[in-house]
Amino acid sequence: MRSYSLLAPAKINLYLEILGDRADGYHELAMVLQSIDLCDRIELYANGTDTIRIHCDHAQVPLDKSNLAYRAAELMTTQFPKVFAKFGGVDIEIDKRIPVAAGLAGGSTDAAAVIVGIDLMWQLGLTQSELQELAAQLGSDIPFCIAGGTAIATGRGEKLSPLPDLDQVYVVLAKYRDLAVSTAWAYQTYRQQFNSSYLVDTTSLEARATQVHSGPLVNAIAHKDNTKIAQLLHNDLEKVVLPKYPQVQQLREAFAAAGVLGTMMSGSGPTVFALTETRTQAEAVQKQVEAAMNQPNLEFWLAQFTHNGIHIEH
Ligand code: C5P
Repeated sequence: MRSYSLLAPAKINLYLEILGDRADGYHELAMVLQSIDLCDRIELYANGTDTIRIHCDHAQVPLDKSNLAYRAAELMTTQFPKVFAKFGGVDIEIDKRIPVAAGLAGGSTDAAAVIVGIDLMWQLGLTQSELQELAAQLGSDIPFCIAGGTAIATGRGEKLSPLPDLDQVYVVLAKYRDLAVSTAWAYQTYRQQFNSSYLVDTTSLEARATQVHSGPLVNAIAHKDNTKIAQLLHNDLEKVVLPKYPQVQQLREAFAAAGVLGTMMSGSGPTVFALTETRTQAEAVQKQVEAAMNQPNLEFWLAQFTHNGIHIEH
């Protein structure tokens, strides 16, 4: 086929613990990641030239090499030069529905879709782990975005262990339209403030990652206990992002007061999400928080947990 249309789900962090520093300048993490059915739509067209072109009409999405989706296509051309010469370049059209710089892996999931789509278009037949190995070269969250669902992520975030699928959990997300948080800033600030508590030796790092694997949140997920899962939400990056952005802290408090199962900032923020058992409850929570905050700049999305990673749109 000369064109593919793919759906690329966003993710939220149910858990994010920063364990220590890595020799490559990144952090050792223990996370639990969850895909949600808020998706970007990515269309790929074989363009018969030797170039990669991005099309997107969202003001915050770059059309050049600084876009991860561009770099994903470029990576495929350098990894598979003969196939590239045979099939030629691609036009990538991004229908952006996931908020940008929001802690929801929007850029990462677009890049994941490009890797999966080019594998299909060029008939490479790569396995999921081969696709994920390529993805890890571009960004820590991209391997998870390929597979999606619910998973523990350790290392930089690229080492994945799938967890049982969760059903019927609804998610209300809110973000101030003009507020973006740099992931690099959030991790750097965390390092400045908390590195005295970092685990330093490999044995302690491995032991802590193992504890998370057998810890209470993973147990609650195995039992599909949504109330427990929501009580165990955790994100170390809140410790640096919330004090710097009091309006995000306020938003989190408004969600907590709305009687949700649980609420937390996702990734490096500034999106705050809350979990509910039903869509009706999710809609009521949105109304209540909208009224309590009374901020025209605040945008809301309703979503549901999904088992899907990157998938073809039917
Ligand atoms: O890998 P990715 O490009 O998503 O990471 C963005 C930034 O977040 C990195 O440049 C780094 O500063 C920080 N980061 C980190 N440790 C991780 C993942 C990300 O310090 N495990």
